Amino acid sequence: MKVLFIGDVVGSVGRRMVFENLPRIKDEEKVDLVICNAENAAHGKGITKKIYHQLIQAGVDVLTMGNHTFSKKNLEEVIDELDRMVRPANMSPTEYGKHTLVIDVDGKKVAVSNLIGEVFMINVTESCFQAMDRILSETKADIHIVDLHAEATSEKIAFTFEYADRCSLIVGTHTHVQTADERIVNDHCAAISDVGMCGAVHSVIGRDVDEVLSRFKYGAQTRFTVAEGKGIFCGILCEIDDNGKAVSIKRIQIKESE
Ligand code: FE2
Repeated sequence: MKVLFIGDVVGSVGRRMVFENLPRIKDEEKVDLVICNAENAAHGKGITKKIYHQLIQAGVDVLTMGNHTFSKKNLEEVIDELDRMVRPANMSPTEYGKHTLVIDVDGKKVAVSNLIGEVFMINVTESCFQAMDRILSETKADIHIVDLHAEATSEKIAFTFEYADRCSLIVGTHTHVQTADERIVNDHCAAISDVGMCGAVHSVIGRDVDEVLSRFKYGAQTRFTVAEGKGIFCGILCEIDDNGKAVSIKRIQIKESE
């Protein structure tokens, strides 16, 4: 089975990059399952019901989230209708939505789970290790795929070693910068520390350059708006065999020329 995981979609440029590139990649690479981190899809923070449906319509099968899951007003009221979305298992409020979705892909039960790291994150209710142990003991699936939405590469790499024998694909998200460390761990689990983002090329991780600069240089309390202009699409393609063993992982980066 071929899995495409698309990195954090940031605002309208990110959405446009998904809409423009996903149909072709899906077709050319014969992708069976498309997962996309969408926690920044609505103007850089959170998601709306409308954008959820646009991404599903574009060909995304499962949406993962992160620390901005509930940044848009009233998402908790509609999240149960968004049945292809998972939100971090170890982040409050825990009572809305689900952290794991089990779907049938080519006759295999595939579980997609979402967690956040502890380093520099707020609203963390327990460690991602405790949460993952519980998920594995409670979830019946042939293949486990995890999006660990976290800041620190060390935390993401340590997590990967802990679960490499029990998961087929573990990806990191959140930093918006694609790392070049894609690999197969323990001859079983495909992994990358960060998939990267879909968003504006001329930006600071998707945000307006001047606004971020004025925060760093002068401590200005400006609102960070989402950058516009040419876009980048980041993702990974992973092949998993019938026994749940990952056999390949390849980075994708499509950049519009500036
Ligand atoms: Fe994030």
